[in-house]
Parts: sequence; C-alpha cells; structure tokens
Amino acid sequence: MARITLRQLLDHAAERGYGVPAFNINNMEQGLAIMEAAASCDAPVIIQASRGARSYANDIMLAKMIDALEEMHPQIPLCLHLDHGNEEATCATAIRYGFTSVMMDGSLKADAKTAADYDYNVDITRRVVEMAHWVGVSVEGELGVLGSLEHGGGEQEDGHGVEGKISHDQLLTDPDQAVDFVRATKVDALAIAMGTSHGAYKFTRKPDGEILAMRVVEEIHTRLPNTHLVMHGSSSVPQALQDVFNQFGGEMPQTWGVPVEEIVRGIKHGVRKVNIDTDCRLAMAAAFRKVATQSKSEFDPRKFLKPAMDALRELCRDRFEQFGTAGNAARIKVVALPEMARRYRAGALDPQIGKMTQAA
Ligand code: G3H
Ligand code: 13P
Ligand code: ZN
Repeated sequence: MARITLRQLLDHAAERGYGVPAFNINNMEQGLAIMEAAASCDAPVIIQASRGARSYANDIMLAKMIDALEEMHPQIPLCLHLDHGNEEATCATAIRYGFTSVMMDGSLKADAKTAADYDYNVDITRRVVEMAHWVGVSVEGELGVLGSLEHGGGEQEDGHGVEGKISHDQLLTDPDQAVDFVRATKVDALAIAMGTSHGAYKFTRKPDGEILAMRVVEEIHTRLPNTHLVMHGSSSVPQALQDVFNQFGGEMPQTWGVPVEEIVRGIKHGVRKVNIDTDCRLAMAAAFRKVATQSKSEFDPRKFLKPAMDALRELCRDRFEQFGTAGNAARIKVVALPEMARRYRAGALDPQIGKMTQAA
C-alpha cells in the first residue's frame, strides 16, 4: 500500500525538479485510467476530489474505490487530496475518509463565491493546518483569487468560483503577502493566482505574459524557494480535443488554455502541483461524442466508456512525461501518517526552515 501525503510527494518532486499533475476524479473509470497511466510510466499520483465529486460519488464509494486502486497498483505512491475545501468541517470529514491531503481554500468564503479578506484566509487556513498536522495530513492553502486578467471576471461558467468582477490586485498573488501567509499558516503548498481560471474558457487568445502572469510564479519562488507552489486552472484545453469534440456535434467556441510549455516553465520555478480537470473531462466527452455519432445504434455504456478511458489514459500519461513525474514512483519510500505527524510536532517540516529529505 502506498498512500502518500502531499507534503512528502512534493518534497520529493522539489528535490528532483519535477511537477505532479493532480487529476480530479468522480468515478471508477477515471480512477482506473489515471492509475493505469501512472503505472505505465512509473509516476506517483495525486488524485483529487472536489466537494462536487464527494457528493456525486458519495464519500464511502470514493474511499473504497481509492482503496481498490491502491491495492491494484501497490507500487504507485498515491496522494488522495481534497480539492477546494471551503470550511474546516469539509477538511475534517475528508481526513476521516482517508484523504492524506486537504486544500483549505480561504481565498473565498464558505459559500465559495465571495472573495474573503486576508485575515479570514490566514485564520481559517491556520486552524486547518493545526488540525491536519496533528494526524500527519498535508494542507494546501490559496492566496489570491482565480479569475481572468483579460476581463477581470470570476469563473462562474463551471458553477463555482468568485462571482462578478474583481480587481487586478486580487487576481495576482502579492509576493510579499505570500511570504507572510506561508509563515503565518505553515501550509505545505501554496496555490497562487496569476490569471488562470477553472473550466474551458480561460483565454480568448493564446496567452502571453499579460494574461498569464508566469512572472508572478517566478517572483514568489524567489521569495519562498522552499514552498511548493500550486497552479490551479491548468488545463491546456488542447486544440486536438476541441476539434474532436466539435467534429462530432459538440459546440465549444474556440478557446485557449494554459500551454504545457508554460507549466513546464512554472515547474522550473517552484510549481510542484498542477491541477487538471477540464482536460480530463474534455478527453472523455470528445470520445463519448465520437461513439454516439459514429455508432448510432450503440447502447452498451462500456462501448462509450472504454474509448473515453483510453483518451484519458493517453492524456494523463502525456502530462506525467511532460512534467517529469514519470520514472519517480519507484524512487519514493512512503512515510506513514503517524511519522509525518511526529515530524510536524518536532518542527522538522516548517516550510520556512527546511524540507524533509527522503532519508530523514
Ligand atoms: O475546482 C474545480 C474542479 O474542476 C472541480 O470541479 O466542482 O465541478 O467537481 P467540480
Ligand atoms: P481546470 O479547470 O483548468 O482543469 O482546473 C482544475 C482545477 O484547478 C481544480 O482545482
Ligand atoms: Zn482549482
């Protein structure tokens, strides 16, 4: 069994200079495809579940499914992470169901729609860190609000994220504030805002530095070289997938995501976790459309799901290879939660003081 914490995995990634994609799941087919991709190239894995996924699949089902995936692939370190926790209770219940990492997204209030102020964010994130570290679980925090630098709008198209227009200042994480935030909260990883947003409609043109501010990543990494940075909204929305989707009856207006080469640039500057959901959805939905269009009499769900899993497996494997995750699973000796908890108590895992090494 190889359930790993986010902290241990990202410490390893930092030592060896790679990034780890964090793929969202909601169902068995996604879990199978992601794990098969990881096993095929020896990559450690972050599987994350949102609140929406937890209510769609049910916590019990998700927990048992992850147990099964782990049993099927015991050689693959698997981090189970809560995506965008909105309050303490959401994080606490995730831990109860076997999550080894939680995100406390205090950039938004508990309604996940209203931008929160800095003090609220520090306070709630610090409380979740205290609770999680007692049991060795890692915590990701977020500073800055995800949204578009093109039009200053939030990201309601996916049904979550901040509502209405927000200021340029809020859309770009302030590097000085990031230093203060990490010191005050002791988060294990920090999600930052630099122009990415969730969903398919991130940019109306191929992004340049004006609308995808990778310089912010570099500035924060210079000030916080030991802190693991997280890029949300990092689907690339590949043209090839948009084309298949539209060729078979889909209606997705032309759009641009985060180019893989920009993510690779981020990985050179401290980005260790890269959140990808939309690409996985698009890969599967394009495959569904293709089967539905080409085989009009087909009604066996497996005939739809198998090509969708193939497309997802291919996408995941590509990201493992591009981010340098491939080949690292066998190099990691997983540290159990009680030992992680002991290290936190001993002060050995403070992001400002130093990083755990595999030998520690
Ligand atoms: O945070 C965004 C992820 O894409 C999860 O989306 O809330 O629809 O499951 P969801
Ligand atoms: P995408 O919508 O770009 O895939 O982002 C997913 C994400 O950030 C989940 O937290
Ligand atoms: Zn996100």
